[in-house]
Amino acid sequence: MRKKIVAGNWKMNKTLDEGLALASEVANIANDEITDDAIAVLCTPFIHLSAVGKIVAGSNKVFLGAQNMSEHAGGAYTGDISADMLNSVGVNYVILGHSERREYHNESNAELASRVDAALANELTPIFCCGESLEVREAGTHVDFVSNQLKESLFHLDAEAFKKIVIAYEPIWAIGTGVTASSAQAQDMHKALRDGFAAQYGQDVADEISILYGGSAKPANAPELFSQPDIDGGLIGGASLKARDFVDIIKSY
Ligand code: 13P
Repeated sequence: MRKKIVAGNWKMNKTLDEGLALASEVANIANDEITDDAIAVLCTPFIHLSAVGKIVAGSNKVFLGAQNMSEHAGGAYTGDISADMLNSVGVNYVILGHSERREYHNESNAELASRVDAALANELTPIFCCGESLEVREAGTHVDFVSNQLKESLFHLDAEAFKKIVIAYEPIWAIGTGVTASSAQAQDMHKALRDGFAAQYGQDVADEISILYGGSAKPANAPELFSQPDIDGGLIGGASLKARDFVDIIKSY
């Protein structure tokens, strides 16, 4: 069975103290209230990772994630963070290729392919983001566009490595806008992506890949999104900054 994952992407929010308070509250409620059906991942800013790692250490429900990492192992890369550093503070997951980073930092599919390799080589699970702009959606080429993002960054992997990837489909037009993709729009894309994985790696492999939805997900719309057969969880921005909302989204399973 596929892993159900709800990851909170805090983006550039919360001072250290605020972040620690949020992480403690999430860990407390989640450990009490969420069942074994789903896991939570807290993707905090880099400066929070070490301390949040101590809060969630030992939990089998709440895990630690970073929002980005370098493809380089170390050296003269001012401002960057390596996989090794993430490992050293207990990080398990790393978001790669978020649309905000693709847009503001010009991250390319090829560069992201190298980051995926570096993450896997260091036993970090990539939460690999993909998604189309409104322009692409309106042109009707969204499936090809997103499929190509994944092909160029992931299809060099062999099946064993590919099985370790978590995909997050986040239509850019739904991020932070309050406009959620309808459950049918999200399901259609997730199914198309899974069919593409089946064509490349076989149905058995495709059936093991968790595909998360992201974009204005909240407690009110999570149950319907998560009831779709190919939606295996969420990558949550704004609503992950409130412990109650975040845990309620996880409990939608
Ligand atoms: P929102 O949930 O705030 O729309 O953000 C989604 C997102 O970008 C998560 O990575």
